[in-house]
Amino acid sequence: MRALIALLLAWLLAAPALAQTDPNRLAPHLDPNRTANGLAQTPPMGWNSWNKFACNVNEAIVRRVADAMVSSGMRDAGYVYVVIDDCWHGPRDAEGNITADRERFPSGMRALADYIHSQGLKFGIYSDAGRTTCGGRPGSQGHEYQDARTYASWGVDYLKYDWCATGTRNAEEAYALMADALRATGRDIVFSICEWGNNQPWLWAPRIGNLWRTTGDIYDHWDGVDRWQHGVMNIVDSNEPLWPFAGPGHWNDPDMLEIGNGGMSDSEYRAHFSLWAMMAAPLIAGNDIAAMSPATRDILLNREVIAVDQDRLGAQGHRTWRQGTSEVWVKPLAGGARAVLLLNRGEAPAEIAADWALLDWPASLRARVRDLWQHRDLARAAGRVRATVAPHGVVMLRIEPGA
Ligand code: GLA
Repeated sequence: MRALIALLLAWLLAAPALAQTDPNRLAPHLDPNRTANGLAQTPPMGWNSWNKFACNVNEAIVRRVADAMVSSGMRDAGYVYVVIDDCWHGPRDAEGNITADRERFPSGMRALADYIHSQGLKFGIYSDAGRTTCGGRPGSQGHEYQDARTYASWGVDYLKYDWCATGTRNAEEAYALMADALRATGRDIVFSICEWGNNQPWLWAPRIGNLWRTTGDIYDHWDGVDRWQHGVMNIVDSNEPLWPFAGPGHWNDPDMLEIGNGGMSDSEYRAHFSLWAMMAAPLIAGNDIAAMSPATRDILLNREVIAVDQDRLGAQGHRTWRQGTSEVWVKPLAGGARAVLLLNRGEAPAEIAADWALLDWPASLRARVRDLWQHRDLARAAGRVRATVAPHGVVMLRIEPGA
């Protein structure tokens, strides 16, 4: 009888919590106190093969890009992960071990990883929680521990884990399983969750991985949606409201950069890069690093903008004002400064002002103002800053209290 009463009491106490369980989170047996691996205390930076090379990736391309990451200064600016996306896979062998495509990767993954490591870079790879990857290669479903062990033996430092061909799998559970498998290898492997925001990953992924995609795929366009592909402005609008869920070790991922792939103007690419930095997004270049123009290099290597992205406070900035196609974004930085972005989404130049109230500062506060694209200090300001912003352009400032 006592046991029955205790059971009833336990049920009554648990009932309100159960009633609040989000229907998308049907993995109640997972430990709610689990934590991710402690990696990626600032948003990961690197390069990924997909946006430029898609399924045409091969060993020669990856080596060429790795060399260029060093010679261009990308590595020294913080872009350390070289990630091979889909289509590197060959078949599974007789024991079920995943192999690399022997024609595309004749030296094998271990040798490629060694080469990448010898350049002071880190090595990333791609798999999928389903039976096949989105490109139709073998997925990791049913092989999670085996694949994690293989990756660790190759020297993998980063895994992007996709969501094609997953049927009725529960996302939280599927990603937790691979996270456990990675952890069991004893190797530090950044875990990049890629289920496109379908199952509200911001609610559960911080306990499981380091970054999670919040939208469908990016494409090299300023705005709009084309089937599963989303333009930069479209992605920004989906990713922006999720700012409270990001922080050190766990980041919203609005997808990889399209800078330098040719579909947008340099002004649009500067806006793309600035917004990713304001959103504390992973900065994963998606162009051919070995063949980039000086303009592309200047954008990707803008260290003042990178510093905003990598700020140790790890706050995701967000939109604090909008009127028509003019917007003001604010990102608090460690030490009390603010990054401020004036964004003009319109087709004509626009005068945009940021009042100190939008920065949570009293109007009387005097502050130093630095323009992060012109690389120069502007006049000190009190109360507000104002600038004329080019169409599809930005003015990005670092504003710091001080006389
Ligand atoms: C999905 C992902 C992309 C890319 C491709 C590879 O679409 O969202 O980022 O990895 O699969 O097939």
